[in-house]
Amino acid sequence: MLIRDIASLAVVPPGPLAGEKMRDVNIIQDAAVLIEDGRLVWFGLAKDAPADKGGPALSAEGGCVIPGLIDPHTHIPFAGHRAAEFARRIAGESYLSIMESGGGIRVTTQAVREASEEELVELNLPRLRRMLALGVTTCECKSGYGLAPKHELKQLHAIRELNRRQPIELVPTYLGAHALPAEFEGRADEFIDRIGSEALLQQIASEGLARFCDVFCDRGAFTVEQARRVLTRAAKVGLKPKLHADELAQIGATRLAGEVHAVSADHLETIDEGGIAALKEAGTIAVVLPGTSFFLGIEHCDVHRLINAGLPVALSTDCNPGSSMIESLPLIMNIACCQLRMPPVEVLSAVTANAAAAIDLHGRLGAIEKGYDADLVILDAPTLDEWFYTPGRNRVKAVIKHGEVVYKA
Ligand code: NIG
Ligand code: FE
Repeated sequence: MLIRDIASLAVVPPGPLAGEKMRDVNIIQDAAVLIEDGRLVWFGLAKDAPADKGGPALSAEGGCVIPGLIDPHTHIPFAGHRAAEFARRIAGESYLSIMESGGGIRVTTQAVREASEEELVELNLPRLRRMLALGVTTCECKSGYGLAPKHELKQLHAIRELNRRQPIELVPTYLGAHALPAEFEGRADEFIDRIGSEALLQQIASEGLARFCDVFCDRGAFTVEQARRVLTRAAKVGLKPKLHADELAQIGATRLAGEVHAVSADHLETIDEGGIAALKEAGTIAVVLPGTSFFLGIEHCDVHRLINAGLPVALSTDCNPGSSMIESLPLIMNIACCQLRMPPVEVLSAVTANAAAAIDLHGRLGAIEKGYDADLVILDAPTLDEWFYTPGRNRVKAVIKHGEVVYKA
């Protein structure tokens, strides 16, 4: 298939793109793209396009074409909602105090435990369909609301089923150590040994139910020592480490991310210089979640400090019912641009090349590069700048996943 009439093609190189390299996006005006067997085989100036071999053509109608968007950190699938907590927070209560008073993650755990696997699938399918219409072609999904082996496995099975039933490619992460369930109050170490047992991790890895293991390592969640225990065992069976780090307080979680060579360290609102150095040395991707700070009304992560230090930064929704009930990666991109003052090309690199690196798929996703998967978004704006200039308006005209048109506005 030849895509023609592209006003501008945003050629993002393969990630990870560290520091100032995030701006190295080459814009080709009046471009075309050739796709064969689901892969990009040629791109360049339209006038140089290979001779028409009679294959199908698709007109971008003067739109900008970008790589498919990648959301590298979500808590999909979940059940229920926490709108009452949202109202309490708007009235002044903090996320941490609501969590300490019995609200927070435990409330969603109740709802997820009550839902069947099929119910989890049915509840989250519409969400993924809405995300597809916003240009998302790949999405990381975490367990972490079951908080008991049976319910964690149910969530992971729901992710597998959701992956089969809709076009977005889902990449599963096991987050059993997300919160301490009520029945383990005062027995966190015991819970960690249950949820992070070698047998359970081995089962998850050997059945291909997850590729990564994540831990919420923070004040009010799990300690560095507990997180280390889970992640080290997980790594032994091939589940690569990730961390929820430095969100609510500075307890040394990013240093641990460096120590275990985490693929990504996510949140980072309270990261310090030692944490930055640790991530840099380990080659860990810094995943910044400005939707969470927007939704919780807390200070945004100082993303320029990370980029200036030479870290590859990715952006994500953190879509979850407590701290970021936001499905829209384009909204996150607009927050990053308008409030974090990241230029559009930097934001684009963060949700394509670097987002792919945050889920260890930068060898085939997140770039406009020969041989890469043909995951593309056609916009009804002629340039990136015009797209970013109109927050709140969905300007996605078509979405292509692995060479197939899977969504048309
Ligand atoms: O990434 N920080 C930990 N976990 C989620 C919040 C989950 C919830 O509140 O349900 C997050 O923000
Ligand atoms: Fe999260």
